[in-house]
Amino acid sequence: MCGIVGYVGERNATEIILNGLRRLEYRGYDSAGVAVIHDGLIELRRDVGKLNRLSDVLLRDPIAGRIGIGHTRWATHGVPSERNAHPHLGQTGKVVVVHNGIVENFITLKEQLLSEGAVFKSDTDTETIVLMIERYINRGMGLVEATQTTLKQLRGAHGVVVLSVDEPDKIVTARIGNAGGVVIGFGEGEMFVASDIPAILEHTRRMVFLESQQMAVIQKSETKIMTLDGEAIPYEPSVVAWDPVSAEKGEYRHFMQKEIHEQVRSLTDTLAGRADFERFDIQLPDLHLNVADVRKMDKIFITACGTAAHAGMVGKILIETIAQIPVEVEIASEFRYREPLLTENMAVIAISQSGETADTLAAMALAKSKGAKVWSIVNAIGSQAMRVADGFISMQTGPEIGVASTKAFTAPLVDLYMMAVVLGEMRGVITVPEKKAYLEALRQVPDLVSQTLDHEHEVVAVAEMLKNSQHALYLGRGINMPIAYEGALKLKEISYIHAEGYPAGEMKHGPIALIDQQMPVVAICPRDQWYEKMISQIEQAKARGGIIVSVAEAGDIRVERLSDAVLWVPKAHWLLNPVVTVIPLQILAYHIAALRGLDVDQPRNLAKSVTVE
Ligand code: AGP
Repeated sequence: MCGIVGYVGERNATEIILNGLRRLEYRGYDSAGVAVIHDGLIELRRDVGKLNRLSDVLLRDPIAGRIGIGHTRWATHGVPSERNAHPHLGQTGKVVVVHNGIVENFITLKEQLLSEGAVFKSDTDTETIVLMIERYINRGMGLVEATQTTLKQLRGAHGVVVLSVDEPDKIVTARIGNAGGVVIGFGEGEMFVASDIPAILEHTRRMVFLESQQMAVIQKSETKIMTLDGEAIPYEPSVVAWDPVSAEKGEYRHFMQKEIHEQVRSLTDTLAGRADFERFDIQLPDLHLNVADVRKMDKIFITACGTAAHAGMVGKILIETIAQIPVEVEIASEFRYREPLLTENMAVIAISQSGETADTLAAMALAKSKGAKVWSIVNAIGSQAMRVADGFISMQTGPEIGVASTKAFTAPLVDLYMMAVVLGEMRGVITVPEKKAYLEALRQVPDLVSQTLDHEHEVVAVAEMLKNSQHALYLGRGINMPIAYEGALKLKEISYIHAEGYPAGEMKHGPIALIDQQMPVVAICPRDQWYEKMISQIEQAKARGGIIVSVAEAGDIRVERLSDAVLWVPKAHWLLNPVVTVIPLQILAYHIAALRGLDVDQPRNLAKSVTVE
């Protein structure tokens, strides 16, 4: 959701902040702003809408300084507008704040401030923060103490960055709870702070991630990290391995298209160092598994949101089939608010690209509190979901910028497959030849994905055919049922075409009523154990006049004859089939949205990281 960038050093802060904010555009926002300190004054520029509008404002009315903060806002309190955009300035113009999160008790705090004569210029909850800090400074506190005193009175989760003209060489930042991360970047004689790694990756890879209830006082040559009570916390910057080029669009029109094509590499990277195809072995050291615990395990829950939850549904079949442990999949926003029957002999796997999705983090916290083992499969390095888990698998896909998740869907499928093999081996339920066969199948995945991507031009023709559709029905069975959900989600979130994913066998219990000559029916029909059943569903949909688009294995004439169009995929092991069948559906959604002239990477109303409920 909201993006934050801050800078202190010798360079032009405005330029660095604006570039950093551009790299956070994918998070979703509706207004933006930047503030710098110059000649003892805070200079502020903001505008509603995209960053280009803010750039125009800055061109007409430039500001320059060596220290500053910027923000992209995703409205929660108050409509998207210039006056509600961050940064927010205090009443006397001495203090300026950017903020991610929601001040849950802001009405009480606002009433208190109003009774003391404060004047609010915006409808935001954030303005209470800056007015409080400023008041404490006016009563004689330093910036750090004033910020600490204020933060201790806020309810909710927050990432905050503050500047004051009284201490013009300092950035004060803090993280409380899970309203998104606060990452501090260490340069040479300059320092950066941001809500997310890509914002500062072009400047440094040496970073420290603040934990909840930690704050930092950042100066260009010295940084102190402390608790909210001022107790110093020792730290050592870690080196983030992401490649800055992976946060650029390169030759592609959109990040989503680039990320779809990156899947050969991202899948290779997620296998690298883990799957050994010479010795037929898999090592997942960061999961910290021990044989005794795994043998006692009587159930696993998988919890996640959106696309990550669809990966979890595939994971259920992988783990139940390979490791023979019962698995339940539950959407994190539901899981967190009930009393799941969890014991120490159970594990909860959380899947998250961002590692900062509020519902997923809350589900993990609940699982921990019940004594279950908590494992995570996460893309964003250093994110909360990685840090709080008992063990994790890093997806290793590099930054995913497009709001529609693609490479962060296929990587966890492979990670779950590897996890299933490791668990199965520890439990003694797979034989050596079986393990070898699983690895043989796994080895082929990047190549199969590459072959699938080669068919992009054929998918474009289907996108042309479907681009004006109003609705679409996606059908799948067995391990490809979640792929029907995922294909439909991809289409609806970026093209705004209403699409539904359905277990194909359920069609006759309702959705079949929707099928007529206007209804595209996308049927995922590889030659697996559900093939004959899928053929029969396709026939039923065809008999009602539906426009049949099938995902089928190369050379499948039977499906071809039944279909108006076919999205071809190569043959894969049935357990790994979803990694391949989802690719044409990602490409299809992408091209339909692009042909409709839509903002593919930043669809309306959506944020990349959903850090609030
Ligand atoms: C998928 O295309 C969406 N952007 C969304 O469903 C996403 O997968 C979900 O919000 C979960 O995000 P996470 O993986 O960062 O936790």
